Amino acid sequence: MQLDINKIRKDFPLLSRTIHGKKIVYLDNAASTLKPQTVIDKLTNYYTLETANIHRGIHYLSDEGTTKYEDSRSTIKNFINAKHSHEVIFTGGTTDSINLVAQTYGRQNLKPGDEILISTMEHHSNIVPWQIIAQEKNAIVKEIPIDDNGDILIEEYKKLLNKKTKIVALTHISNTIGTINPIKELIEYAHQVGAIFLVDAAQSIAHTKIDVQSLNCDFLVFSSHKIYGPTGIGILYGKEDLLNSIPPYKGGGNMIEKVSIERSSYNELPHKFEAGTPHIAGGIAFKDAINYVDNIGLDNIAQYEENLRQYATNQLQQINNLKVIGTSKKKSSILSFDIKDIHPHDLGTLLDRQGIAVRTGHHCTQPLMKRYNLIATTRASFSFYNTKEEIDLLITGINKSLTML
Ligand code: ALA
Repeated sequence: MQLDINKIRKDFPLLSRTIHGKKIVYLDNAASTLKPQTVIDKLTNYYTLETANIHRGIHYLSDEGTTKYEDSRSTIKNFINAKHSHEVIFTGGTTDSINLVAQTYGRQNLKPGDEILISTMEHHSNIVPWQIIAQEKNAIVKEIPIDDNGDILIEEYKKLLNKKTKIVALTHISNTIGTINPIKELIEYAHQVGAIFLVDAAQSIAHTKIDVQSLNCDFLVFSSHKIYGPTGIGILYGKEDLLNSIPPYKGGGNMIEKVSIERSSYNELPHKFEAGTPHIAGGIAFKDAINYVDNIGLDNIAQYEENLRQYATNQLQQINNLKVIGTSKKKSSILSFDIKDIHPHDLGTLLDRQGIAVRTGHHCTQPLMKRYNLIATTRASFSFYNTKEEIDLLITGINKSLTML
Protein backbone atom coordinates (compact mmCIF):
# COMPACT_ATOMS: atom_id res chain seq x y z
CA MET A 1 0.00 0.00 0.00
CA GLN A 2 1.22 3.49 -0.89
CA LEU A 3 1.17 5.68 2.23
CA ASP A 4 -0.47 9.10 1.90
CA ILE A 5 2.36 10.93 3.66
CA ASN A 6 0.88 14.40 3.22
CA LYS A 7 -2.29 13.28 4.94
CA ILE A 8 -0.32 11.47 7.66
CA ARG A 9 1.84 14.54 8.31
CA LYS A 10 -1.27 16.65 8.92
CA ASP A 11 -2.13 14.35 11.84
CA PHE A 12 1.05 15.46 13.66
CA PRO A 13 0.67 19.12 14.66
CA LEU A 14 4.30 19.49 15.71
CA LEU A 15 5.40 18.99 12.11
CA SER A 16 4.01 22.44 11.29
CA ARG A 17 6.37 24.16 13.76
CA THR A 18 9.30 26.26 12.76
CA ILE A 19 12.54 26.09 14.75
CA HIS A 20 15.04 28.95 14.44
CA GLY A 21 12.88 30.25 11.61
CA LYS A 22 13.08 26.97 9.66
CA LYS A 23 10.41 24.33 9.16
CA ILE A 24 11.19 21.51 11.58
CA VAL A 25 12.86 18.40 10.18
CA TYR A 26 12.34 15.92 12.99
CA LEU A 27 14.83 13.06 12.70
CA ASP A 28 15.04 12.02 16.36
CA ASN A 29 12.36 9.37 16.38
CA ALA A 30 14.49 6.80 18.17
CA ALA A 31 14.56 9.16 21.17
CA SER A 32 10.84 9.93 21.07
CA THR A 33 8.14 9.94 18.44
CA LEU A 34 5.72 12.79 17.75
CA LYS A 35 2.09 12.51 18.80
CA PRO A 36 -0.89 12.42 16.44
CA GLN A 37 -3.81 14.72 17.19
CA THR A 38 -6.00 11.77 18.30
CA VAL A 39 -3.57 10.98 21.12
CA ILE A 40 -3.33 14.64 22.15
CA ASP A 41 -7.13 14.98 22.11
CA LYS A 42 -7.53 11.90 24.29
CA LEU A 43 -5.11 13.26 26.88
CA THR A 44 -6.83 16.65 26.93
CA ASN A 45 -10.24 15.08 27.13
CA TYR A 46 -9.33 13.05 30.20
CA TYR A 47 -8.15 16.14 32.06
CA THR A 48 -11.00 18.29 30.76
CA LEU A 49 -14.04 16.08 31.13
CA GLU A 50 -13.10 12.65 32.46
CA THR A 51 -10.83 13.12 35.47
CA ALA A 52 -11.39 10.45 38.11
CA ASN A 53 -9.38 7.69 39.70
CA ILE A 54 -9.80 4.18 38.33
CA HIS A 55 -10.24 0.68 39.83
CA ARG A 56 -11.55 2.33 42.99
CA GLY A 57 -14.83 4.16 42.71
CA ILE A 58 -18.37 3.17 41.95
CA HIS A 59 -19.32 6.54 40.52
CA TYR A 60 -19.85 7.06 36.80
CA LEU A 61 -16.54 8.80 36.03
CA SER A 62 -14.47 6.21 37.84
CA ASP A 63 -16.24 3.43 36.03
CA GLU A 64 -15.86 5.15 32.65
CA GLY A 65 -12.12 5.69 33.25
CA THR A 66 -11.61 2.08 34.36
CA THR A 67 -13.33 0.77 31.24
CA LYS A 68 -11.20 2.96 28.96
CA TYR A 69 -7.97 2.10 30.76
CA GLU A 70 -8.73 -1.63 30.58
CA ASP A 71 -9.76 -1.26 26.93
CA SER A 72 -6.32 0.09 26.25
CA ARG A 73 -4.79 -2.97 27.92
CA SER A 74 -6.82 -5.28 25.64
CA THR A 75 -5.78 -3.28 22.58
CA ILE A 76 -2.12 -3.70 23.55
CA LYS A 77 -2.69 -7.39 24.29
CA ASN A 78 -4.03 -7.86 20.74
CA PHE A 79 -1.29 -5.71 19.24
CA ILE A 80 1.48 -7.95 20.63
CA ASN A 81 -0.67 -11.10 20.50
CA ALA A 82 -0.39 -11.92 24.20
CA LYS A 83 -2.53 -14.81 25.37
CA HIS A 84 -4.18 -12.82 28.17
CA SER A 85 -4.81 -9.15 28.94
CA HIS A 86 -3.51 -9.68 32.47
CA GLU A 87 -0.09 -10.53 31.02
CA VAL A 88 0.12 -6.87 29.99
CA ILE A 89 1.34 -4.74 32.92
CA PHE A 90 1.36 -0.94 32.76
CA THR A 91 4.65 0.48 34.03
CA GLY A 92 6.45 3.81 33.86
CA GLY A 93 8.22 2.76 30.62
CA THR A 94 10.91 0.43 29.32
CA THR A 95 13.39 1.33 32.06
CA ASP A 96 10.81 0.77 34.77
CA SER A 97 9.80 -2.58 33.23
CA ILE A 98 13.38 -3.89 33.14
CA ASN A 99 14.00 -2.78 36.72
CA LEU A 100 10.80 -4.56 37.72
CA VAL A 101 12.01 -7.85 36.24
CA ALA A 102 15.52 -7.47 37.69
CA GLN A 103 14.21 -6.63 41.17
CA THR A 104 11.55 -9.36 41.27
CA TYR A 105 12.51 -12.28 39.04
CA GLY A 106 16.21 -11.52 39.50
CA ARG A 107 16.06 -11.19 43.27
CA GLN A 108 13.97 -14.34 43.61
CA ASN A 109 15.95 -16.58 41.27
CA LEU A 110 19.58 -15.51 41.04
CA LYS A 111 22.14 -17.43 43.12
CA PRO A 112 25.84 -16.68 43.61
CA GLY A 113 27.75 -17.50 40.40
CA ASP A 114 24.66 -17.37 38.17
CA GLU A 115 25.05 -15.56 34.89
CA ILE A 116 23.06 -12.86 33.11
CA LEU A 117 23.82 -12.35 29.41
CA ILE A 118 23.45 -9.00 27.71
CA SER A 119 25.04 -7.78 24.48
CA THR A 120 27.52 -5.06 23.62
CA MET A 121 24.77 -3.04 21.95
CA GLU A 122 22.42 -2.73 24.96
CA HIS A 123 21.00 0.59 26.10
CA HIS A 124 22.13 1.50 29.64
CA SER A 125 18.60 0.70 30.82
CA ASN A 126 19.23 -2.93 29.84
CA ILE A 127 22.65 -3.00 31.52
CA VAL A 128 22.54 -1.14 34.82
CA PRO A 129 19.44 -2.84 36.36
CA TRP A 130 21.17 -6.20 35.82
CA GLN A 131 24.42 -4.96 37.35
CA ILE A 132 22.55 -3.73 40.43
CA ILE A 133 20.84 -7.07 41.07
CA ALA A 134 23.95 -9.06 40.11
CA GLN A 135 25.99 -7.18 42.71
CA GLU A 136 23.36 -7.89 45.34
CA LYS A 137 23.13 -11.61 44.51
CA ASN A 138 26.81 -12.19 43.62
CA ALA A 139 25.78 -13.09 40.10
CA ILE A 140 27.78 -12.19 36.98
CA VAL A 141 26.79 -10.04 34.01
CA LYS A 142 28.43 -11.29 30.81
CA GLU A 143 28.70 -9.68 27.40
CA ILE A 144 27.58 -11.24 24.14
CA PRO A 145 29.97 -9.72 21.58
CA ILE A 146 29.13 -8.23 18.20
CA ASP A 147 31.10 -8.04 14.94
CA ASP A 148 32.15 -4.88 13.12
CA ASN A 149 28.86 -4.74 11.23
CA GLY A 150 26.99 -4.63 14.51
CA ASP A 151 25.62 -8.18 14.39
CA ILE A 152 25.55 -10.46 17.40
CA LEU A 153 28.19 -13.19 17.14
CA ILE A 154 25.81 -16.11 17.41
CA GLU A 155 28.49 -18.78 17.83
CA GLU A 156 29.99 -16.77 20.72
CA TYR A 157 26.51 -16.43 22.21
CA LYS A 158 25.99 -20.19 22.04
CA LYS A 159 29.34 -20.73 23.76
CA LEU A 160 28.36 -18.35 26.57
CA LEU A 161 25.09 -20.15 27.28
CA ASN A 162 25.38 -22.79 30.00
CA LYS A 163 23.59 -24.18 33.06
CA LYS A 164 24.50 -21.07 35.08
CA THR A 165 22.82 -18.74 32.56
CA LYS A 166 19.59 -17.66 34.25
CA ILE A 167 18.60 -14.56 32.28
CA VAL A 168 19.29 -13.31 28.76
CA ALA A 169 18.23 -9.71 28.20
CA LEU A 170 18.62 -8.39 24.68
CA THR A 171 17.46 -5.54 22.57
CA HIS A 172 15.38 -6.42 19.54
CA ILE A 173 16.62 -3.38 17.59
CA SER A 174 19.68 -1.34 18.54
CA ASN A 175 18.75 2.26 19.38
CA THR A 176 22.16 3.45 18.17
CA ILE A 177 23.04 1.45 15.05
CA GLY A 178 19.65 -0.01 14.10
CA THR A 179 20.66 -3.70 13.93
CA ILE A 180 17.60 -5.95 13.96
CA ASN A 181 18.59 -8.95 16.04
CA PRO A 182 17.35 -12.47 15.12
CA ILE A 183 15.50 -12.53 18.40
CA LYS A 184 13.39 -15.66 17.85
CA GLU A 185 16.46 -17.78 17.18
CA LEU A 186 18.30 -16.26 20.15
CA ILE A 187 15.36 -17.03 22.44
CA GLU A 188 15.35 -20.68 21.36
CA TYR A 189 19.03 -21.08 22.29
CA ALA A 190 18.46 -19.49 25.71
CA HIS A 191 15.57 -21.81 26.44
CA GLN A 192 17.70 -24.84 25.61
CA VAL A 193 19.78 -24.14 28.75
CA GLY A 194 16.75 -23.20 30.84
CA ALA A 195 17.36 -19.44 30.89
CA ILE A 196 14.52 -16.94 30.64
CA PHE A 197 14.64 -14.31 27.90
CA LEU A 198 13.69 -10.63 28.16
CA VAL A 199 13.25 -8.70 24.90
CA ASP A 200 13.84 -4.95 24.99
CA ALA A 201 11.37 -3.89 22.30
CA ALA A 202 11.69 -0.14 22.92
CA GLN A 203 12.97 0.47 19.39
CA SER A 204 11.12 -2.28 17.59
CA ILE A 205 7.55 -1.86 18.79
CA ALA A 206 6.76 0.99 16.36
CA HIS A 207 8.62 -0.43 13.39
CA THR A 208 8.05 -4.17 13.15
CA LYS A 209 5.29 -6.63 13.99
CA ILE A 210 5.73 -8.30 17.36
CA ASP A 211 4.01 -11.53 18.33
CA VAL A 212 5.01 -12.56 21.84
CA GLN A 213 3.53 -16.05 21.49
CA SER A 214 5.38 -16.76 18.28
CA LEU A 215 8.62 -15.32 19.71
CA ASN A 216 8.06 -17.36 22.88
CA CYS A 217 9.82 -14.65 24.92
CA ASP A 218 9.35 -14.72 28.68
CA PHE A 219 9.27 -10.95 29.13
CA LEU A 220 9.02 -8.12 26.61
CA VAL A 221 9.19 -4.43 27.43
CA PHE A 222 8.52 -1.17 25.62
CA SER A 223 7.52 2.47 26.09
CA SER A 224 4.45 4.26 24.83
CA HIS A 225 6.33 7.42 23.81
CA LYS A 226 8.34 5.55 21.19
CA ILE A 227 5.13 4.42 19.49
CA TYR A 228 3.45 7.83 19.17
CA GLY A 229 1.88 7.67 22.64
CA PRO A 230 2.34 9.66 25.86
CA THR A 231 5.56 9.72 27.88
CA GLY A 232 5.80 8.21 31.36
CA ILE A 233 3.99 4.97 30.60
CA GLY A 234 5.07 1.66 29.13
CA ILE A 235 4.50 -2.06 29.15
CA LEU A 236 5.89 -5.16 30.73
CA TYR A 237 4.57 -8.25 29.00
CA GLY A 238 5.26 -11.47 30.91
CA LYS A 239 4.07 -15.04 30.59
CA GLU A 240 1.24 -15.63 33.06
CA ASP A 241 3.01 -18.36 35.06
CA LEU A 242 6.15 -16.30 35.41
CA LEU A 243 4.28 -13.19 36.54
CA ASN A 244 2.34 -15.26 39.04
CA SER A 245 5.53 -16.81 40.38
CA ILE A 246 7.33 -13.57 41.22
CA PRO A 247 6.73 -11.15 44.08
CA PRO A 248 5.37 -7.61 43.61
CA TYR A 249 7.79 -4.81 42.78
CA LYS A 250 6.18 -1.86 44.54
CA GLY A 251 3.80 -1.91 47.48
CA GLY A 252 0.78 0.36 47.75
CA GLY A 253 -2.86 0.76 46.86
CA ASN A 254 -4.52 -1.40 44.19
CA MET A 255 -1.86 -4.14 44.33
CA ILE A 256 -3.26 -5.72 47.50
CA GLU A 257 -6.01 -8.19 48.30
CA LYS A 258 -6.06 -7.81 52.09
CA VAL A 259 -3.94 -5.67 54.41
CA SER A 260 -3.38 -5.84 58.16
CA ILE A 261 -0.69 -4.04 60.12
CA GLU A 262 1.39 -7.23 60.24
CA ARG A 263 1.07 -8.52 56.68
CA SER A 264 -0.69 -8.27 53.35
CA SER A 265 -1.82 -10.55 50.58
CA TYR A 266 -1.62 -9.43 46.99
CA ASN A 267 -4.09 -8.76 44.24
CA GLU A 268 -4.21 -10.90 41.13
CA LEU A 269 -2.57 -10.03 37.81
CA PRO A 270 -2.17 -7.43 36.44
CA HIS A 271 -2.92 -5.36 39.55
CA LYS A 272 -0.23 -7.06 41.65
CA PHE A 273 2.32 -5.01 39.70
CA GLU A 274 0.37 -1.77 39.46
CA ALA A 275 0.64 -0.07 42.85
CA GLY A 276 -0.67 3.46 43.22
CA THR A 277 -2.66 5.71 40.92
CA PRO A 278 -1.29 5.10 37.42
CA HIS A 279 -0.82 7.46 34.48
CA ILE A 280 -4.54 7.18 33.68
CA ALA A 281 -4.68 9.71 30.84
CA GLY A 282 -1.55 8.17 29.35
CA GLY A 283 -2.97 4.68 29.59
CA ILE A 284 -6.19 5.71 27.88
CA ALA A 285 -4.43 7.63 25.10
CA PHE A 286 -1.95 4.77 24.57
CA LYS A 287 -4.80 2.93 22.84
CA ASP A 288 -5.16 5.69 20.25
CA ALA A 289 -1.45 5.54 19.51
CA ILE A 290 -1.63 1.78 18.93
CA ASN A 291 -4.74 2.14 16.80
CA TYR A 292 -3.05 4.84 14.75
CA VAL A 293 -0.11 2.54 13.94
CA ASP A 294 -2.41 -0.42 13.36
CA ASN A 295 -4.49 1.54 10.87
CA ILE A 296 -1.46 2.35 8.76
CA GLY A 297 -0.19 -1.21 9.22
CA LEU A 298 3.21 -2.26 10.48
CA ASP A 299 4.10 -3.97 7.20
CA ASN A 300 3.46 -0.74 5.29
CA ILE A 301 5.40 1.22 7.89
CA ALA A 302 8.36 -1.18 7.74
CA GLN A 303 8.47 -1.02 3.95
CA TYR A 304 8.23 2.78 3.79
CA GLU A 305 10.88 3.27 6.47
CA GLU A 306 13.20 0.77 4.81
CA ASN A 307 13.05 2.85 1.60
CA LEU A 308 13.91 5.95 3.63
CA ARG A 309 16.80 4.16 5.31
CA GLN A 310 18.27 2.96 2.02
CA TYR A 311 17.92 6.39 0.46
CA ALA A 312 19.48 8.11 3.49
CA THR A 313 22.34 5.59 3.66
CA ASN A 314 23.21 6.17 -0.02
CA GLN A 315 23.02 9.93 0.34
CA LEU A 316 25.10 10.02 3.53
CA GLN A 317 27.78 7.85 1.98
CA GLN A 318 28.39 10.53 -0.68
CA ILE A 319 29.73 12.85 2.04
CA ASN A 320 33.51 12.92 2.32
CA ASN A 321 35.00 11.24 5.39
CA LEU A 322 31.58 10.13 6.64
CA LYS A 323 31.34 6.61 8.03
CA VAL A 324 28.05 4.93 8.81
CA ILE A 325 28.40 3.04 12.09
CA GLY A 326 26.66 -0.33 12.00
CA THR A 327 26.31 -1.98 8.62
CA SER A 328 24.23 -5.04 9.42
CA LYS A 329 22.22 -6.44 6.50
CA LYS A 330 19.15 -6.26 8.74
CA LYS A 331 18.71 -2.71 9.94
CA SER A 332 15.89 -0.53 11.11
CA SER A 333 15.57 3.14 10.12
CA ILE A 334 18.24 4.35 12.53
CA LEU A 335 21.48 5.76 11.10
CA SER A 336 24.47 6.62 13.25
CA PHE A 337 27.48 8.16 11.60
CA ASP A 338 30.86 9.64 12.30
CA ILE A 339 32.64 12.28 10.27
CA LYS A 340 36.42 12.40 10.60
CA ASP A 341 37.63 15.26 12.81
CA ILE A 342 34.09 16.62 13.37
CA HIS A 343 32.59 16.49 16.84
CA PRO A 344 28.96 15.26 16.70
CA HIS A 345 27.85 17.93 19.18
CA ASP A 346 29.19 20.68 16.90
CA LEU A 347 27.43 19.13 13.93
CA GLY A 348 24.22 18.62 15.92
CA THR A 349 24.22 22.24 17.04
CA LEU A 350 24.68 23.54 13.50
CA LEU A 351 21.96 21.24 12.19
CA ASP A 352 19.66 22.47 14.93
CA ARG A 353 20.20 26.06 13.73
CA GLN A 354 18.82 24.85 10.39
CA GLY A 355 15.74 23.35 12.04
CA ILE A 356 17.02 19.76 11.82
CA ALA A 357 16.66 17.65 14.97
CA VAL A 358 19.08 14.73 15.30
CA ARG A 359 20.58 13.14 18.41
CA THR A 360 24.27 13.36 19.15
CA GLY A 361 26.23 11.66 21.92
CA HIS A 362 26.66 8.11 23.16
CA HIS A 363 22.91 7.39 22.94
CA CYS A 364 23.01 5.69 26.37
CA THR A 365 25.17 2.93 24.84
CA GLN A 366 28.68 3.56 26.14
CA PRO A 367 29.87 -0.08 25.76
CA LEU A 368 28.84 0.08 22.09
CA MET A 369 30.75 3.34 21.62
CA LYS A 370 33.79 1.64 23.15
CA ARG A 371 33.39 -1.28 20.71
CA TYR A 372 33.68 1.17 17.81
CA ASN A 373 36.34 3.26 19.48
CA LEU A 374 34.13 6.34 19.48
CA ILE A 375 32.94 8.77 22.13
CA ALA A 376 29.84 9.85 20.28
CA THR A 377 27.99 9.67 16.96
CA THR A 378 25.38 11.72 15.16
CA ARG A 379 22.17 9.77 14.77
CA ALA A 380 19.26 10.35 12.39
CA SER A 381 16.24 8.12 13.00
CA PHE A 382 13.20 8.03 10.76
CA SER A 383 9.49 7.49 11.09
CA PHE A 384 6.69 7.00 8.55
CA TYR A 385 6.00 10.76 8.56
CA ASN A 386 9.51 11.57 7.31
CA THR A 387 10.20 12.10 3.63
CA LYS A 388 13.03 11.89 1.11
CA GLU A 389 12.88 15.69 0.88
CA GLU A 390 13.71 15.85 4.58
CA ILE A 391 16.66 13.53 4.03
CA ASP A 392 17.84 15.88 1.26
CA LEU A 393 17.58 18.74 3.77
CA LEU A 394 19.67 16.72 6.23
CA ILE A 395 22.36 16.13 3.61
CA THR A 396 22.38 19.80 2.58
CA GLY A 397 22.44 20.73 6.25
CA ILE A 398 25.44 18.49 6.95
CA ASN A 399 27.33 19.82 3.92
CA LYS A 400 26.60 23.40 4.96
CA SER A 401 27.70 22.67 8.54
CA LEU A 402 30.94 21.13 7.31
CA THR A 403 31.87 24.36 5.54
CA MET A 404 31.57 26.13 8.90
CA LEU A 405 33.55 23.64 11.01
N1 ALA B 1 16.56 5.45 24.18
C1 ALA B 1 16.34 6.73 23.59
C2 ALA B 1 17.32 7.03 22.48
O1 ALA B 1 17.91 6.14 21.96
C3 ALA B 1 16.24 7.81 24.57
O2 ALA B 1 17.50 8.17 22.12
